[in-house]
Amino acid sequence: MPEIRSIGIIGAGQMGNGIAHVSALAGLPVAMVDISRPALDKALATIARNMERQIGRKLITPEQRDEALERITTSTDLASFGTTDFVIEAATEKEEVKREVFKALCPHLKPEAMLASNTSSISITRLAAVTDRPERFIGMHFMNPVPVMKLVEVIRGIATDEPTYRAVEALARKLGKMTATAQDFPAFIVNRILVPMINEAVYALYEGVGDIRSIDTAMKLGANHPMGPLELADFIGLDTCLSVMQVLYDGLSDSKYRPCPLLVKYVEAGWLGRKTGKGFYDYSQDPPAPTR
Ligand code: NAI
Repeated sequence: MPEIRSIGIIGAGQMGNGIAHVSALAGLPVAMVDISRPALDKALATIARNMERQIGRKLITPEQRDEALERITTSTDLASFGTTDFVIEAATEKEEVKREVFKALCPHLKPEAMLASNTSSISITRLAAVTDRPERFIGMHFMNPVPVMKLVEVIRGIATDEPTYRAVEALARKLGKMTATAQDFPAFIVNRILVPMINEAVYALYEGVGDIRSIDTAMKLGANHPMGPLELADFIGLDTCLSVMQVLYDGLSDSKYRPCPLLVKYVEAGWLGRKTGKGFYDYSQDPPAPTR
């Protein structure tokens, strides 16, 4: 089984910076690439801030933080992955974006390098097919926030070979994560179940069954969920939630997956949740206030 000794990350958003954080703390050199230089700078600042919080909780030492931060390099050029063992893509949840990224990436890789996507829902088999190495392509789906959440969902594309699967399972363990293996069907396991629940909560709001606070309180106290579904949607990003619903709707052709028109409207307004400061809640207020 090939051992993964270095990691490349494409996309320095909330997931990319989390993957960089846990990889660097696990001792792996990390090369992070984004099309946006400000996104890379923001990611480095976020990682440093989150590590500071871990120091405060005595989870890591200042020395571990300093060493980890030194392992992370950033660039806007895919050519920086020339010697990397494993590249994981965590760019925007749009299939065209990911396909273009993988096509542009392959010529820069060493022949034995393995590839993964952190996609929440897009077919691993279809993404693998645009690369020159579908047998060394896999889904490695981290949960948000990456440093906190224990699970990595590992998705086997139709062509994924056994050594790649085993190498990625071993990598997940090295990063301190547990794995659950999913076959490659739309949205895999976690989001196949979670995101329709969120979409249903948006329908409940849309149809006036309850207001934002009532829906979140009902699910927190009535179902023992740590976050309400609308609060969680803001945390995930409403654009990501909508993309997952669209993938389920297109891929399974069942009207039960129809994205709620209100979710579409929020995304069209640019109210994407925490990352834009406004979603079902307005984060410029303290505490955040419902937007409806
Ligand atoms: P985000 O919007 O925070 O970050 C995406 C980043 O990708 C941005 O910095 C953007 O500049 C960059 N990007 C866009 N096009 C690019 C390109 N062509 N080359 C390089 N970088 C590019 O998104 P987030 O939330 O980090 O999601 C990333 C991926 O992770 C998506 O596939 C999403 O479905 C998945 N995911 C998201 C979770 C969540 O809770 N937000 C949970 C698990 C997976």
